[in-house]
Amino acid sequence: MKILAIETSCDETCAAVTEGTNILSNVVYSQIDLHKEFGGVVPSIAKRAHEERIELIINKAIQELGVRSQELDAVAVTAGPGLAIALEVGIRYAKELAKKWNKPLIAVNHIEGHVVSGLTPEVKFPAMALVVSGGHTELIWVEKIGQYKIVARTMDDALGEALDKAARMLGLGYPGGAELEKRAALGNPKIYPLPLPMARSKELAFSYSGLKTAFYRLISAKGQVLSAKDTNDLAASFQKRAFEHLIRMTRRVIQDSGFMIHDLLVGGGVAANTKLREEIKKLSEEVGINVYFPQKGMYGDNAGMIGIAAGFKAERGEFSDPEKIDRLPRWRIDE
Ligand code: KG4
Ligand code: ZN
Repeated sequence: MKILAIETSCDETCAAVTEGTNILSNVVYSQIDLHKEFGGVVPSIAKRAHEERIELIINKAIQELGVRSQELDAVAVTAGPGLAIALEVGIRYAKELAKKWNKPLIAVNHIEGHVVSGLTPEVKFPAMALVVSGGHTELIWVEKIGQYKIVARTMDDALGEALDKAARMLGLGYPGGAELEKRAALGNPKIYPLPLPMARSKELAFSYSGLKTAFYRLISAKGQVLSAKDTNDLAASFQKRAFEHLIRMTRRVIQDSGFMIHDLLVGGGVAANTKLREEIKKLSEEVGINVYFPQKGMYGDNAGMIGIAAGFKAERGEFSDPEKIDRLPRWRIDE
C-alpha cells in the first residue's frame, strides 16, 4: 500500500511517500530561518510558510518517485499534537487530495510517528518508546503498534526545549540543541555543578524547569561576558545533567515500573545527539534490552514517520471520515 503522508504540526513542511516501513521519498522544508530571529516558533509565520510551500513539497515527494497519483492508495496527515493553525494547513490539503483522488484518509498522531520512526522487523513487543523532541519528552509503553500507554512525561519543559533555552542563555542561537552539543563536547562538566532534577522524587516523570532556573542563576552570578571556555564548560554541565535525568528516569521505568518490555524504541530531534545516543546505548546494555534508533533524516520532524504509522493504521482499517477529521492540538498517543 503506497501512502502519501503530510506533516505540518510545527515548523517543518513535510511530505513523503511510504510503503509499509519503506520510505520511498521524504521531503522536509525547514522553516528555521524564518523563526530564528524570534527565538522560537511563531505560529502565524509557521502557518503562512506551510501554506506557501505545501503544494511544492507534496509534488516533490510524489515526483521524486515518478509515481502518478492514481498509484497511491491513501493520504495520511498529522492531526495532532501540535500548533492548531499549522496542523490545519496539512489537514486541509490532505482532505482535498483524498477527495480529488478518491482515496481513503488516515489521521496520524505525531508522537506515534516518532515512536515508529526507528522501527525494523526485528523489534519485539511489548517495547518501551522514548520520544525526545522540542515539544515532547515521553516514555511510552508500546504493547504493540497501535496500543500505547504514556508511562512518564514532562511536567514542564520538554528536553529539547530546555536545551534550546540553555543554548539561548549562552548566546548560541536558535534552536540551539545541536550547537550546545558541539560546545559541550569541548567543555568540562565538573566545573559548574548543577542540581539533578527530581533527585529525591519517586514519581515517574520528567522536569527541566528547575535545572533551567539553576542554570540561569549560575550565568547571572558570573555577571560578565562569557569566555569561550566558560561557554563550553557551562554547556557541558547543562547537557550532562539534562541527559542524566533522562537516563535515570528511563532506567527506572524499564526496571521498576512493572511494564514487561523487550526492546527500546527511540525517536525525536534530540536523539540526533551523539552523546545522548551513547548514553542510551550504555543503558540498554546495562538492562539487557535492544535499542533501535531512527535512520538518518528521521530524527526530527518528517512525513516519512507519519506514513509508517499510517500504514499500520490502514492494516487495522483505521481510516478517517473526511467530513469529521479535525486538528487535535493536544492529542495524547494513548487516547
Ligand atoms: O523532533 P524535532 O525536530 O521537533 C519537534 O517535534 O519538536 O526536535 C527539535 C529539537 C530542538 O529542541 C533541537 O534543539 C533538538 O531537537 N536537537 C538537538 C540536536 N539536534 C536537534 N538536541 C540536542 N542535540 C542535537 N544534536
Ligand atoms: Zn516532532
